[in-house]
Amino acid sequence: MDGEYFTHKRVLFPCSVYSPETLSSVENEFQVRDDDLFNITYPKSGTNWMLEILSLIRCEGDPGWVRSVPNWDRAPWVESNHGLEAALKYPPPRLLSSHLPVQLFPNSLQRSQAKIIYTLRCPKDVLVSLYHFSHISRVFKTPGSLDSFLEDFLSGNVPYGSWFHHVTGWMGLKGNKNFFCITYEELQQDPLGSMQRICCFLGKELSVEQMAAVVKNASFQNMKTNEMSNFSLIPDKYMDHQKGGLMRKGEFRVGTTECD
Ligand code: PPS
Repeated sequence: MDGEYFTHKRVLFPCSVYSPETLSSVENEFQVRDDDLFNITYPKSGTNWMLEILSLIRCEGDPGWVRSVPNWDRAPWVESNHGLEAALKYPPPRLLSSHLPVQLFPNSLQRSQAKIIYTLRCPKDVLVSLYHFSHISRVFKTPGSLDSFLEDFLSGNVPYGSWFHHVTGWMGLKGNKNFFCITYEELQQDPLGSMQRICCFLGKELSVEQMAAVVKNASFQNMKTNEMSNFSLIPDKYMDHQKGGLMRKGEFRVGTTECD
C-alpha cells in the first residue's frame, strides 16, 4: 500500500485513515468540552513527545499509564476515523491530539473554555523528519528526491497542508488565556522550565521531583523503548517497521527557536 491522498477544503489528507465525512463531522458537529485539553501540532513537530508529557503530568510523573496504554488511546487524533470514535467514548476530562489546521478545527472550540497546547518546531527539521517518516509510513506517499519533497513542502502539497499556514493560523490565537504555545527546541533546551510553564498553564501543581519524573519518563530514550509510545504497535499495513520508526533522531540543528 502506498498512500493515496484526497483533498478536503484545499488540504491533503491520506485516504487510509481519514475521510471527508469524518473531517466535516469533526469541524461542524464535534462538541468541544470546557474541560478538554488539546495537543495540537503540525506533523513531526513533537506531537508524541508532548502527548507523553501531558499523559505524565496527568499522573504526576508516574509512568504506569504511559507504559500500559498506547499513545493514540491516551490522546486520540480527533480527526482520524479511529480517533473520532475513541474521542467520542473518552471519559472526561479528555486529552486529545490534532494535526488539523485551525480553519478545519471543530467550530465549537469558539464557545468553549477548552485548553490548547500548540507545539511547533523549526520547519527545516520538520521537513527532514517528514521526509524520512514518509518512507516508513504506508499511509503517506513515498517521496522522490529530497529536493522535490522540499518543493511540495514549501507549496503545502503534503498531508495537512502548508506548515506556514498551519503555524500562522494557530498563532492567531496567541494572547488567548486558553492557548499556550511552546517549541520543540524549548522542550529540549530547558526541560524543567518547560514543565513549569506547562503545569502553570494547566493549573496543575507538581513538585520539582514530580516534574523531574515527567522529564525523565518522557525522554527520547524512554519513549524509544516504550512500545506504547514508539509506534511499534501500529499494524504493518500502516507502517513498514523494517525501515524505521517514530523515534528517529530527536535532535535539532538550528539555534534557539522560541515562540515569543
Ligand atoms: S507525528 O507522526 O507527526 O505524530 O510525529 P511527531 O511526534 O510530531 O514528531 C516525531 C519527531 O519527534 C521526535 N521525538 C522526540 N524528540 C525528542 N525527545 C522526545 N522524547 C521525542 N519523542 C519524539 C521524533 O524523534 C521525531 O523527530 P525526528 O527528527 O524524525 O527524530
